[in-house]
Amino acid sequence: METIAEKIDKIKKEKNAVVLAHTYQPGEVQDIADYVGDSYGLSVKASESDADVIVFCGVRFMAETAHILSPEKRVILPTPGAGCPMADMITPDELIAMKKEYPDYQVMCYVNSTSEIKALSDVCCTSSNAMKIARHLSDSKGVLFVPDRHLGSYIQQKTDLNMVLWDGFCPTHVRIQPQDIEQARVRHPEALVLIHPEAPRSCRDLADEVLSTGGMCEFVKNSSAQQFIIATELGLIHTLQRQNPEKKYYPLSDKLLCPNMKQGSLEQVLASLEGRGGDVISLDPQIVHKARHSLVRMLELSK
Ligand code: 13P
Ligand code: SF4
Repeated sequence: METIAEKIDKIKKEKNAVVLAHTYQPGEVQDIADYVGDSYGLSVKASESDADVIVFCGVRFMAETAHILSPEKRVILPTPGAGCPMADMITPDELIAMKKEYPDYQVMCYVNSTSEIKALSDVCCTSSNAMKIARHLSDSKGVLFVPDRHLGSYIQQKTDLNMVLWDGFCPTHVRIQPQDIEQARVRHPEALVLIHPEAPRSCRDLADEVLSTGGMCEFVKNSSAQQFIIATELGLIHTLQRQNPEKKYYPLSDKLLCPNMKQGSLEQVLASLEGRGGDVISLDPQIVHKARHSLVRMLELSK
């Protein structure tokens, strides 16, 4: 009897499909994916892939980003209900009002945003390339950064940009408390603390490294340290264990679950490939055209 994983493999070949998965996806989904990575790595893969079909295991803004970068491909989100609450914390009207208030400022939007917000922005960034993109904006009068106030404050802290931050946040990463880090250090004194920039500054300041999920994977691979406290969504522990099984990982807290990222399953990936499930991403072509500009600019400035 064929397993679900074998069925997925077979149909992927028949349809020239690839499965891309974010590092926060359930382990079983990561294990059958052709590529597992952070938002930046996934957007590069989506723009370069020669597959006809992309099954995007992540949340909606990620699948929409893949569609915007490769509109000729069929991009399927296996979990139609998986959104990102932070992406929905700013509406197009709110951004239009902000732009009116600061007409000479550039708009930099975190990729964790809706396609409409990307279409109204000058450039996108992810948590791994934010600093690189920000440096390219150093000549501008000011930068409107949306929607994550924590990633925004991290950029502000590391550059001398004049920034106005929107007040959005990730409900998962704001659960991180300074005492979680202090207690974890007592339990694991040998371990380095790696934290995501979506965490509040009071916590970032207590960590050893502030990194995107892809940055954490790179750091762990190249570090001589053997133990790590991981202050981001729990799914990353699975990625790290697969990539460097000889090292030890301690989740900062079992509260760090993103319910949207955890909706995925193998059955849904199979259903998407068989055309009996998932959501085929389709967007207004004008939005695709405008949002593409800010994403392509991000990819160019990240090189
Ligand atoms: P990465 O940029 O590390 O992939 O993070 C995406 C995300 O949703 C973090 O909450
Ligand atoms: Fe959005 Fe936070 Fe979930 Fe990332 S972890 S997808 S930012 S809610």
